[in-house]
Amino acid sequence: MSTLAGRLATAAAGLLTATAFALPASAAGEVNIYSYRQPELIQPLLDGFTEKTGIKTNVIFADKGLAQRMQAEGENSPADVLMTVDVGRLDGAKALGVTQPVNSEIINGNIPAEFRDPEGHWFGLTTRARVVYASRERVEQNAITYEELADPKWKGRICTRSGQHPYNIGLFASVVAHKGEKAAEEWLAGLRDNLARKPAGNDRGQVQGIYSGECDIGLGNNYYMGKMLTNEKEPEQKEWANSAKILFPTSAEGGTHVNISGVVMAKYAPNREEALKLMEYLSSAEAQQIYAEANFEYPVKPGVEASELVRSWGSFTPDDLPLTEIFAHRKTASELVDRVGYDDGPAS
Ligand SMILES: [Fe+2]
Repeated sequence: MSTLAGRLATAAAGLLTATAFALPASAAGEVNIYSYRQPELIQPLLDGFTEKTGIKTNVIFADKGLAQRMQAEGENSPADVLMTVDVGRLDGAKALGVTQPVNSEIINGNIPAEFRDPEGHWFGLTTRARVVYASRERVEQNAITYEELADPKWKGRICTRSGQHPYNIGLFASVVAHKGEKAAEEWLAGLRDNLARKPAGNDRGQVQGIYSGECDIGLGNNYYMGKMLTNEKEPEQKEWANSAKILFPTSAEGGTHVNISGVVMAKYAPNREEALKLMEYLSSAEAQQIYAEANFEYPVKPGVEASELVRSWGSFTPDDLPLTEIFAHRKTASELVDRVGYDDGPAS
């Protein structure tokens, strides 16, 4: 063996050893998650991920400002992914420039195109329906349309949270998208006239309003009913929830308004490879099942069932207008809320 060949062989062996030695460290890497979603909600998912891959997860939770924080941290941001709710926030993170595109065959195979950013900057992980909560005692009908909410027969009987809350803005934007600004404004003024009180509280508060008799119907996301019905910490919420049923509204143009919760890859993700594995895992049937059981939302992956309780509420047809198209009307929706004085409550 020539000296040179010998040296090369030794060098190659050294490289191999170094690579082999380095592998366990990178295989047991970490992912840093910035989350607007409650830690206890996503922990079962993260546990499943760590069990499967050996990759540790670190979560920083806040209910606002995380995308701005990523922007301020810039290249030094430790964030690998951001988990959040509402397509507005997901697209907002993209607009802030704190995301990067992801192109994964696994993810694209699991998540239907309507729940993904066409440029790959955000991915829906669950869907949630904006439903009508209706008094079991005082509302006989078991079907309803969004249009009907503006019918004077509901005068003084409807409760909602602020019209400017993203959940309502999403719904109102879908009305603008379907019917145009003018018709949407008339509809919103009609809905305002039917309010029982000035918009206040959160979605659960509207169910409480039904329980207390202040209103007969309310607007809210489907999963709050699940959370209330299983709330051991505040068992009075079970009673509130038991006083109401869920109606999945339809409209002349389509089905029930849905929004998504989802995930983005941070622009400067220091652990991109591990983060991608996490995103792929979150789209898998296993994770979709865990998520659906934990939070009473709907899986985005076709073929994965919602939880038993959620299924007991019946099925519905989601509005098939693309979320990005609805999202484009959010600003108009917000202006309409101000223009009709929605948050001032019913005109006397
Ligand atoms: Fe929520």
